[in-house]
Amino acid sequence: MIIGVLKEIMHNERRVSAIPETVKKFTDEGSLVLVEKGAGSGAFFTDAQYKEAGAQIVDDPSEIFDRADVILKVKEPLFNEAKNKHEADMMHKGQYIITFIHPASPVNHKMVQKLAENGVTSLTLDGIPRISGAQNMDALTSMSTCAGYEGIVIAANHLPKFMPQIFCAAGMIKPVNTMIIGVGVAGLQALATAKRLGSVLYAADIRPDASEQAKSLGAKTVDLGVPREVAIGSGGYANQIPEKWLNHERDVLKGVIGDMDILFLSALVPGKIAPVIITDEMVKSMRPGSVIVDISIDQGGNCESTKPGEIDVKHGVTIVGIKNIPGMLPTSSTWMFANNMYNLMKHITKDGKIVLDMNDQIVKSILVTVDGKLVHEGTKEAMGIK
Ligand code: NAI
Repeated sequence: MIIGVLKEIMHNERRVSAIPETVKKFTDEGSLVLVEKGAGSGAFFTDAQYKEAGAQIVDDPSEIFDRADVILKVKEPLFNEAKNKHEADMMHKGQYIITFIHPASPVNHKMVQKLAENGVTSLTLDGIPRISGAQNMDALTSMSTCAGYEGIVIAANHLPKFMPQIFCAAGMIKPVNTMIIGVGVAGLQALATAKRLGSVLYAADIRPDASEQAKSLGAKTVDLGVPREVAIGSGGYANQIPEKWLNHERDVLKGVIGDMDILFLSALVPGKIAPVIITDEMVKSMRPGSVIVDISIDQGGNCESTKPGEIDVKHGVTIVGIKNIPGMLPTSSTWMFANNMYNLMKHITKDGKIVLDMNDQIVKSILVTVDGKLVHEGTKEAMGIK
């Protein structure tokens, strides 16, 4: 099998889909890995390291698209300015691509249709189910872990204060208060990071299980008062709560956020737009100099005032809406991503070839296009196709 690893073309994307360690595993198992020149440089993996791991370094991405049986990428296929061609059009019939496709998102519908038309079999990492058997392939969870850590580091950087309690000759400086709203994967990592930096911790989530986990990390939890049957849906996941209960949640939080220095917003119901929990009026009630990090911005954001992709100051509060936070931690996020990718490849490879078992829950969840057809249910629904 020939595996192609491309240099990412999205502006400022520093991650890459394979690291020398995973390339060595692929080559030891009999595959040939083609790595585009400089593909790992943004994450500090050199061509020499890939070569030593057994890869062939290739100058021209077109050669990789021509020769590879499977293309591994971090971001969805995009228009390649240097080649004046869309990456989806550089692919051919029978070829596989594995990456974050985000196929249901309207901006990607045309690209996904192109993949189908070109006879490409595409698999999306954002479809990996959160089941125990798929944990080591779950790149979304890995990226949320990165966003939780790095998001708090960003908040600390924008704060005009020390995070921990500081004793000095002039006296004692109190530690800051950090509140995490939405204590899932990213939120828990944010809590753990704020704890390491010495902050006092607060947390709020509509799922009682999440609140319990936050407590075990030392956070004081705020009871949002949303009844269990309203908050919890099938499989124990959170529900998108109705506006009446969101208003109730806002009322509870209004009484608390005025005492916070950092608000870390990571509330989401998978597959839905993010609930707007913090209104502009609520931002106004916060202390000047405090910081909001709204990592749900890709799904619209948890704060009404967040500007997508920007860091802005409103009512004296710094509001961070940076989108690609894992990309700011390129070596660690790439290490996690590349290992998730290797584990997924191992799961779908039999006797040196990709063999998709259409009854396998993981394959069923990640398959987007196959045999010239779009098969991803969420995408079909988003496109209005029966
Ligand atoms: P998750 O599904 O593990 O956690 C979301 C949490 O929000 C759950 O615990 C859920 O119960 C809670 N929640 C839902 N509705 C709520 C409400 N009304 N009030 C309070 N809590 C509520 O999700 P995960 O993986 O932690 O991701 C969180 C967000 O971070 C997502 O929006 C994801 O896209 C984003 N993210 C952003 C990145 C960036 O670079 N900006 C990178 C990685 C993730």
